[in-house]
Amino acid sequence: MSLTGKHILLGVSGGIAAYKTAFLVRDFVKAGAEVQVVMTDAATHFVTPLTLGTLSRREVITDMFPRGAAEATTHWTAHIDLALWADIMLVAPATANTLAKIAYGFADNFLATLVLALRCPLAVAPSMDVDMYRNAATQHNLTLLRERGVHVLEPESGELASGLVGPGRLPEPETILHWVEGLMVETRTDLLGKKVLVTAGPTHEPIDPVRYVGNRSSGKMGFALAAAATRRGAEVTLISGPVHLPTPPGVRRRDVATAREMAGAVDEEFPSTDVLIMTAAVADFSPVHPAGDKIKRDAVVGDRMTLEMEKNPDILRSAGERKARQVLVGFALETSNGLHHARQKLAAKHLDAVVLNDPTEDGAGFGTETNVVTILMADGRIDRLPQMSKLAVAEEILNRVAPLLR
Ligand code: PMT
Repeated sequence: MSLTGKHILLGVSGGIAAYKTAFLVRDFVKAGAEVQVVMTDAATHFVTPLTLGTLSRREVITDMFPRGAAEATTHWTAHIDLALWADIMLVAPATANTLAKIAYGFADNFLATLVLALRCPLAVAPSMDVDMYRNAATQHNLTLLRERGVHVLEPESGELASGLVGPGRLPEPETILHWVEGLMVETRTDLLGKKVLVTAGPTHEPIDPVRYVGNRSSGKMGFALAAAATRRGAEVTLISGPVHLPTPPGVRRRDVATAREMAGAVDEEFPSTDVLIMTAAVADFSPVHPAGDKIKRDAVVGDRMTLEMEKNPDILRSAGERKARQVLVGFALETSNGLHHARQKLAAKHLDAVVLNDPTEDGAGFGTETNVVTILMADGRIDRLPQMSKLAVAEEILNRVAPLLR
């Protein structure tokens, strides 16, 4: 578990997105963290302390001075104790009001007081209506916080609770979880100055303008690799098939749809790259004659239709044949005889490493937040890793790639 033993302070301020913190607390706990929730008074109007306390298995703190006199004498210094206890504090959602308080050092509620006493990193996830977010005061406060080294997670754009459209939405709990996991990882710079090319997601092979042959890849594994490599100092280009994921900060992204488009993009990028990691679930076959118009049901005689398919280019194999100094990492998605097939891929495609995963295994493969992989290196090393978040798998892969670049 990626956050095992980590102490997280979660400060919740009063916006509609506070409801998402119930899922976030659950995800942090699942990832092994101990979570202490602190809420502003306004936040308790959106989600109850009972809900977050039950999920975090710790009493939620809302008041600087709890009601009973006995409690008050023992608890009023809790902000200092917790500030020393924490490995990180995340304020999510961070409203315009709470951001302003943090930026200007106010200490008029428990959350803001706690922030002032922190010795650990502080992260904030702003969430509010679009005009409040764009307001010069809010933007100025965010600039102040960034200048002070506070980590800021950009809000997502879309339809907001008010019905207005624009930036201001709190990212989904899994996105916040991965972001925090990344902040907790010891910062390494072993890929500084290196160019890393990552492919991710599925490819869609058109049958007609509205139908395609595809697979269940969500892109999460590849996006985790792109994010991890960027944090380690690499200049990352991510070639992605059709997925619904935000681009990790600092990553250059090229979107493609088909295997042939992905092959073209890899061909263009490959000569100038130092590392290629092929996480994409590239379709092996595509329809030979995609129809120009939607195929009508009545146009098919009888109850069956036949789709003629042809092999797509094997992108990784041709990169292996062209490789000069590049480090090449492939994935192997196998449901039986995994080690055997992975070894074959390693040799046949001239890879430096291959990452074996089995989509039928619990917590592995398509769409999951975690993966269970075995990493086979060209020098014969084999490591079977336990179930871990895709970000942690990405770090494990990069731990093995970085020494090959020296
Ligand atoms: O995206 P997620 O939902 O997070 O899921 C992650 C994943 C399951 C897709 C990922 O972990 C994974 O296993 N990716 C590889 C899937 C795959 O296509 O495996 P393969 O064994 O069929 O292919 C072997 C390697 O050749 C892969 O690196 C693949 O990218 C590459 N390949 C495959 C076919 C092709 N025409 N060209 C290729 O380059």
